[in-house]
Order: sequence, then C-alpha cells, then structure tokens
Amino acid sequence: MKPIRQYYLKVGNANEVGFHENASTDLCLEERRGTVRTNAKIAVVEHKQKIAERFSPDDIQNAQKRISQSMPVVTKLFDQMRNRERPSLNDAHAFIKDLMTSGENVAAISALAKLKNSDEASFLHSLSVSALIIVFARALRLPEPVIHELAMGGLVHDIGKAAIPISILRKRGRLTAGEICIVQKHPACGFEMLKSISGVSDEVLDITLYHHEKIDGTGYPKGLMGEAITINVRIAAICDVYDALTSIRPYKPALSLDESLSMMTAAKGHFDPVLLREFTSLVIESETVF
Ligand SMILES: [Fe+2]
Repeated sequence: MKPIRQYYLKVGNANEVGFHENASTDLCLEERRGTVRTNAKIAVVEHKQKIAERFSPDDIQNAQKRISQSMPVVTKLFDQMRNRERPSLNDAHAFIKDLMTSGENVAAISALAKLKNSDEASFLHSLSVSALIIVFARALRLPEPVIHELAMGGLVHDIGKAAIPISILRKRGRLTAGEICIVQKHPACGFEMLKSISGVSDEVLDITLYHHEKIDGTGYPKGLMGEAITINVRIAAICDVYDALTSIRPYKPALSLDESLSMMTAAKGHFDPVLLREFTSLVIESETVF
C-alpha cells in the first residue's frame, strides 16, 4: 500500500488529500483518539515555539492579519458555491495581489495555518496551499504573473467540496464506496463552477480539475499520466499534500516535516520527482517553509 494512503487509513481521516477511506476496523478508535488529542496538544505548543523562533513578531502579527482578512474572501466563495450562486473572483484576486506585493513573509502564513480546528480547516488549507505555492514558485523563479494564477488556483482548488455534503466530508468512520465516489467528484464540481465565470485562467482551471492526478496515472478524475499533467498542477499537488500531512488537527497525530517529506518521496509515482526534490531542499535546506 502507498505510504501516504497507509498513513491516512491509520489516522482515520483522509479528507484533505482525497483518499477518503477511513480507519481500519481493527483499530480501537476511542482509545486512539485520546492519544491523538494529547499528541495534538503537544504538537500545537511545539509548533508555536517553532514559529516564534523562526519568524519575527512583526511577521507573525502580519500573517495573523492576513489570515483574518482572507477568511471572509474564501468562505464567501465556498458559500456562493454551496448556494449555487455564480461568484466573482475579484476579491480573491485582490487578496492574492496584495499578498504577493506586500513584502510580508508569506511562509509565516502557511506556518500559522497549519494549526487547524474543524471549523476553519477548509479555509486554512486553501490559504496555506496558496501561500506555499507562492513560496515554492518563487524559489523555482517562475514569472510573478504566473505565480499569481497558481496562488489563485491554490486558493480555490478545493472549492468543489462545497458541493459535497458536510456529513461526508467530516465523517470519521469508514466511507462507503458510494461516498468515496461522491467526494472524488469535487475537482470536477469545482471546475464546472469556475469555468462558468469569465476571466478564470487555464492555470486556475487546471489546478482545480487535476490536483488529485498522479504522475503514474493512478489519480483522478481523468487518470492523467506524466507529461499530460502540467508543471503548474504538479506544483499545486505537492503543496496540497504537504499541507495536509503537516497540518495539526485534533483527530490526527502531528507529522513532522521530515516524516511528511519522506512519506511523499516514498509515494513513488504520485509526484513529479524533480519538483519534489526541489521542494524538499526548499523545506530542509533553506528552512523557508516548515
Ligand atoms: Fe482536493
């Protein structure tokens, strides 16, 4: 079994990376959840200490301000999708533009957004993926206008989940085959919604539709393989899974960045190996992201 899939089966929820199969029946879940909660509390304290060591008080304060500012922008988009309204992406574009030109430490946003409670999880994941994409794409020296579109893609990549019943998304028990099928419709739902809005770029549409594709062709919804998956989508897929694995949630034990990167590297056929190596050195060697 692939390592990332195995991890999510073990911790009992796979919502973030779209595996969505849950804990094995031979695990004593209640007993494990007590341990997990304790681990998560320790992880929160340790993570806050690392943030304080890594970033200046100004970086942290600015990042918290940005997170607060972005919350209504992202939640409004999800609400409009849920209510079958046609949203405008103007506020989201303005937010990304402001974020990219503010000169603030974007990595601090991703670091702070790793602490996720269940109410804010979707919003913080979207924001964190967007911030990670900005940091990663800048390290890859992509042009700023392209990075803007990739960051937009990160912000809206899971917008199709607004069409999935919350009872399924938050379910802790094993999902049925039918429920897995419903959840795996979120890339296509998001794509259909976004393509009806004028001015949405190909980068944003591609990331939304294909962020669960894998290099070896075993992803969804199309089972695209190799070169058929654009570099933009490959970048987003790495940032998406990295944030999901390193996020600290009440129901799952914290995974260190070393463990997360090892797991992603071991998941042969999932990610672009060259880009994953670049991302790993960004995280490990430059300590730009954690
Ligand atoms: Fe997704």
